[in-house]
Amino acid sequence: MAPGQPTAVQERALKAGVDLERLPRHMAVIMDGNGRWATQNGQHRLVGHREGYLALKRNLQTAQELGIGYLTVYGFSVENWRRPETEVAGLMTLIEEAARTELRGLIENNVRVLVAGRLHELPTSLQEALSDLMESTSQNSGIVFTLAINYGGRAEIVDAVKALIAEGHGASAVTEEAISARLYRPELPEPDLMVRTAGEMRWSNYLLWQSAYTELFVTERAWPDFGEPELFEAVLAYQARYRKFGGL
Ligand code: FPP
Repeated sequence: MAPGQPTAVQERALKAGVDLERLPRHMAVIMDGNGRWATQNGQHRLVGHREGYLALKRNLQTAQELGIGYLTVYGFSVENWRRPETEVAGLMTLIEEAARTELRGLIENNVRVLVAGRLHELPTSLQEALSDLMESTSQNSGIVFTLAINYGGRAEIVDAVKALIAEGHGASAVTEEAISARLYRPELPEPDLMVRTAGEMRWSNYLLWQSAYTELFVTERAWPDFGEPELFEAVLAYQARYRKFGGL
């Protein structure tokens, strides 16, 4: 827990029964259900994604004020290119606009931004906006926010092995440590808690390598409706688990 006075979010978390000494250090999120949220509200799917972005802003702030160190979200998967062209273009535009609009606020709020994925396949202007965001926030010391974009867990493992081979290593160099060190963001600790919204009980190719011992929390809520009470619920569920890491 951060020294000094508890934040307003921490006060509310304490009232909800959260143990601030045992927060997940790294929380990963599959922000699912934007499309269903939109359909249920009689809106276009892209309106759902925009609501999803606003939910992300709120939850990033809540996570930061609660004292979570790392938040990693699934913004666009390597499989998402299969969606209709208009939706793909809409998502790319939304993420680029968000990257540019949020830059100042993220710097001021001490958020450090990282991205993970096959970035070179993204539109050039989006690559630039993301690089700018990473560079401008690289000295920040608060929560580390990682956007997984054009990301796939299998692709990441393949890319790590390719990196090993490109460095001239042979089979004897292929160890768990060597692969871990060549993931897109080797500096991140492994996620303690994985939250998935909108009810699906799947991993969907997200952080496969890193999630070997991650606790999963699934809520029926769609991502645009995921807020502070749901975040507390996820942390409480995590704190009720007994993590054995394969031991007894
Ligand atoms: C899954 O919902 C969501 C996505 C594929 C995109 C997630 C993107 C956002 C929340 C916007 C991100 C914005 C920034 C700035 C990072 P879905 O479309 O699969 O929903 P459905 O399963 O109900 O159709």
